[in-house]
Amino acid sequence: MDRLWYGGDYNPEQWPRDVWDDDVRLMRRAGVTVATVGVFSWAKLEPADGHFEFAWLDDILDRLHAGGIRVDLATATASPPPWLTLAHPDVLPVTADGVRLSVGSRQQYSPSSSTYRRYADRLVRTLAERYRDHPALEAWHVNNELACHIHHDYSDESALAFRVWLRSRYTTIENLNQVWGTAFWSQQYGSFDEVMPPRAAPTFQNPTQLLDYDRFSSDAWLAVYRAEAAILRELTPNTPITTNFMGFFKHADYWAWSRDVDFVSDDHYVDPADPAAPALAAMTRDLMRSLAGGKPWILMEQATSAVNWRTRNAPIPPGMHRLLSLQAVAHGADGIMQFQWRQSRAGAEKFHSAMLPHGGEHTRIFEQTVALGEELASLADIVGATQDAPVGIIADWDSWWALEQPATPAQLSYVRILLRWHQELRARGVVADLVRPDSDLTHYRAVIAPATVVLTEQAAGNLAEYARAGGTLVAAYQTGVLNEHLHVWLDGYLGGPTLRQVLGIRVEEFAPVAEPSLSGGPIPRLEIDGLAAGPADEWGEVIRVVDGTVEVHATFSGGMLDGLPAITRNPVGTGTAWYVGTAPENLGTVIAAVLDDAGIAGDRLPDGLEVIDRGPYRFALNFGTTEAELNGERIPARSASITSSDSRNALDTLDATAPALHHE
Ligand code: GAL
Repeated sequence: MDRLWYGGDYNPEQWPRDVWDDDVRLMRRAGVTVATVGVFSWAKLEPADGHFEFAWLDDILDRLHAGGIRVDLATATASPPPWLTLAHPDVLPVTADGVRLSVGSRQQYSPSSSTYRRYADRLVRTLAERYRDHPALEAWHVNNELACHIHHDYSDESALAFRVWLRSRYTTIENLNQVWGTAFWSQQYGSFDEVMPPRAAPTFQNPTQLLDYDRFSSDAWLAVYRAEAAILRELTPNTPITTNFMGFFKHADYWAWSRDVDFVSDDHYVDPADPAAPALAAMTRDLMRSLAGGKPWILMEQATSAVNWRTRNAPIPPGMHRLLSLQAVAHGADGIMQFQWRQSRAGAEKFHSAMLPHGGEHTRIFEQTVALGEELASLADIVGATQDAPVGIIADWDSWWALEQPATPAQLSYVRILLRWHQELRARGVVADLVRPDSDLTHYRAVIAPATVVLTEQAAGNLAEYARAGGTLVAAYQTGVLNEHLHVWLDGYLGGPTLRQVLGIRVEEFAPVAEPSLSGGPIPRLEIDGLAAGPADEWGEVIRVVDGTVEVHATFSGGMLDGLPAITRNPVGTGTAWYVGTAPENLGTVIAAVLDDAGIAGDRLPDGLEVIDRGPYRFALNFGTTEAELNGERIPARSASITSSDSRNALDTLDATAPALHHE
């Protein structure tokens, strides 16, 4: 399309026909360009086994087409109808406790169910045959938020599928025993038939079994996508296919998934009560651009105001929905879609906001809908524009799964750790990609690996080679503790000897910061001297310098770590390797030093302000609650300024009066 996508999920089956005319009229008024149709329509399309009713959908697609609105047509497989699961209860998913879930909600199927697959395939084939030549068809929307509610299924059918998956990975049971470390706690298996999904158990389960179940479950959901996509590719090879991702969603390794979609699309619901929400949104949008290999992506769902699924659902304050939409465009989105077009009158989502609210067209929210439609139409020349990021932050699902397992040195949040680094870059107008530990890193000036707890030998070598060959590498605590089997990297962690050598250090012992005691008594705080001087939280450790070239830039102060290195830097080859063994409050000074090493300009922007260039535009987004000033221009709270990126190209011209901290 030569316009940005703008629109939302459209569920006409929830409304009488006389409302449909009004829908198209108001969509046109709002500048809607695309509607996602049919996401939860299975029961209406196939009200009884093998009996299809398409007349209503024909009518809807024709109306939309007549109104000039393109259609992102869903395959309708997200919620099997009650007749199906009544006839075939084996389709229903089973929890770790052995409870078979019931109907009356959605996503009530196991990704491993062959019965589900058979029925879903038939529906997709029938739909594709009917609508492949419909002139409104813009894209296929496979299923919906795969794995959203059912992260893992523990049914017998999944147990069988898990064993097939394990057999193809390990070939022999001896190999599995070795990799899973089953010599521990008498867990040794005699054959694959003895292996179970990690169902409810008395205490800590085998860590590699848990990790493999995470990997298997992500693959099982991806297989649901692939099965549908294969049918669509066969029947409509020229229509692009997507499925909506869920941002930093732990249960689907989107690096693997992104290879299978024709374009990346994402659903993102900010929490209006969370001051860090715009920062998390920015990092998530960077992940989407990265998953898309730098190409544009579509924001497939967001709320215009309140959602219905938090304990208290605050509205999104005026101005914020526009800002978040522009932020997505600035980070590479070629479309801004919402859930949903018309707010439901009945059902579990009747209190979820929409583009057209219960109050109708004379409302704040509908005015907002119309205004955004106009603004997005005026930005059409951004469509297709890509972005270069000078920094890569490693994001890795194996590490995420492993870091957040039980029975680890501390319960840490992977996304929170990534966000701290990303936030400091964003605060300096520096764009970051998210990257895999084993991908080609050579085009980044700096690469940060926070809590990349799992490193294969190859990935550790990749990071080491990146630094030696001139890159600026930052490894931060809990990186390279384990290999891909979750076996410890002995003799100093850090991904083994190759990466250790580049960092010039060993890590000897972990010292996470204690949590408040039961008595509420004072807990010892961690303090840092030197770079990032001040308090640190979450993490300390015993670091030994083993290479004479290593510079110690910060030390711990007080307690058992007193005087030991906390932050080190090693000039290596033609590059630099930093190690950050703690979480300093003052992380900004570390980032500043790293950017300096990497030759990246990046002065701190006023609080709340995000500045980012894409294509012909520079977006200055003020998420703050007070006015911000940029190059003499005043940007009111919760508003944006969009200027031409040509006139002031590099961010180092942002504020000519501020002293240049970092230079090329
Ligand atoms: C998404 C889902 C939509 C709708 C929305 C509400 O997870 O894809 O169908 O339920 O949440 O926020």
